[in-house]
Amino acid sequence: MFILRVLCCSLLLTAAMAVDSETSHPDGFAVSSAHPQATRAGIKILKAGGNAFDAAIAVAATLAVVEPYSSGIGGGGFFLLHVAEDDSNVFIDARETAPKAASADMYLDDEGEFLRSKSLTGGLAAGIPGMPAGLVYLSENFGRLEFTTNMAEAIRLAKEGFLTGKRYNAMASYRTEDLNNFPGSAELFLDNGFAPKPGFRVFQQELARTLELIAQTNGHAFYKGEIAKRLVSGVLATGGIWSLDDLADYTVKLRSPVTTTYRGSKIVSAPPPSSGGIVLIEALNILERYDLSVETDIDRVHLVVEAMRRGYRDRADFLGDPDFINIPLERLLSKSYADGVAENISTTKASVSLELAPLESKVEGRDTTHFSIIDAEGNLVAATLSINTPFGSGVVPKGTGVVLNNEMDDFSARRMTPNTYGLVGAGANSIAPRKRPLSSMTPTFIESNDRVAILGTPGGSRIISMVLVSALEFLRGGDAESMVVAKRYHHQYLPDQINYEKGGFTMSEVSNLRGKGHQLKESSRNYGNMQVVTWEKKSGKIAAASDPRGEGQATVEK
Ligand code: DON
Repeated sequence: MFILRVLCCSLLLTAAMAVDSETSHPDGFAVSSAHPQATRAGIKILKAGGNAFDAAIAVAATLAVVEPYSSGIGGGGFFLLHVAEDDSNVFIDARETAPKAASADMYLDDEGEFLRSKSLTGGLAAGIPGMPAGLVYLSENFGRLEFTTNMAEAIRLAKEGFLTGKRYNAMASYRTEDLNNFPGSAELFLDNGFAPKPGFRVFQQELARTLELIAQTNGHAFYKGEIAKRLVSGVLATGGIWSLDDLADYTVKLRSPVTTTYRGSKIVSAPPPSSGGIVLIEALNILERYDLSVETDIDRVHLVVEAMRRGYRDRADFLGDPDFINIPLERLLSKSYADGVAENISTTKASVSLELAPLESKVEGRDTTHFSIIDAEGNLVAATLSINTPFGSGVVPKGTGVVLNNEMDDFSARRMTPNTYGLVGAGANSIAPRKRPLSSMTPTFIESNDRVAILGTPGGSRIISMVLVSALEFLRGGDAESMVVAKRYHHQYLPDQINYEKGGFTMSEVSNLRGKGHQLKESSRNYGNMQVVTWEKKSGKIAAASDPRGEGQATVEK
């Protein structure tokens, strides 16, 4: 298949969920996603005899239709798979790439100032989409049903329209001005120039046609055919720099997931160009040194924050696209590295981020979507997909219905200058032609002695800390429900403060943490949209939960 240049597979699969004689098959199947229509599309495919990978295609394609602000055909994402048949874990990297004409200083003016709006709105903000190639790859290598069957529900919903909810209203309100700057986009997604009230029907005939063509041509029309030409014209007309070659040359990459053990449980997560797995693992390796079960709640939060601070520090220093830079992966993932990094953690006093080793000192030692699926054979999918901020770049090239991402803002456009999530980076994540921007998306599996969890969430830089908080909840015996409910707090090295969701800490907890020297900032609202599926290996019992902060749906079928 033209899109897929598969790397040496044997190197890219990692031995996975240990199956022993006491493991039984799941007693049914489950899907948890950010939208009820997408969950229903996945369940329908599983009922029709499809496997978890077929269902993943149906869910991802449906989310592209019903959550046009979150993810889509004009974006990218990561699919973490567990293949029960050979007990392997596979990571499909369908992340966007920078176009060939991109350069390190493309968002700087003559004085070297960062022109933030250019990396967020309009054609220049958009990377080359990986989602269609990702879906084709899933279908050709892992699916059981026809690609067109898996895409059918999404196409129907694009044609017949879907009803908007409160979340749609919030996202469209956030980008009303930008959408109104692109008349085609405003016509599709706004109601006479305003964010539609819940209950408004959004029709997407052109997207339906694009999805049909992708399904019928295995992606060819999108990357090399009629859609490709329209996409490039639309990007050039809105200030961008794409060429037809950029689309024709796009390939998904198969990568080895990153793994660690935490007190006997196995963690499997996203490798670079995601920072998620490495930061998660570094934090867990640090935390494994402490017995969190005997700590008070506040001491536990303090230690988790110190682990986050150090993981996110290393994100800023070392992480970027592994095809462009050397990442000391083995070192960052090792227990001995965590021991060294943890040495200066005080159990009573907050560290100061800028007093940690400075970046590049070479010392040793707001929208997106996630869904989780299990099928009755024990195949698992954790997928986090994105067009970056709500409605991406705001651009919908004429005749395509495709919302283009603004994932270019995930690069470090200028050294140590925060991106839209306040993340800073040194050189490792600078812009270069065909490079993938560093991501925080963290689709993850956890396997303890007797249970498995599939988890992930959107949330920009806060994705990794949310996955960490939920992982710790699972590791201390929590279930799917308590994993999605768990209160969220976050530290990303810089700014040097704990950010916590509205109502996340009591007054006394806040003053206790202040007493240890932490700065705290309460978010104006809650955040994240975690989707979890769990499986008890001995009884086969499965459970699923969708974040109560969102409008998603978790369905278990026996
Ligand atoms: O890849 C990343 O890290 C970001 N583009 C994810 C953006 C996101 O989660 C926005 N959601 N609220």
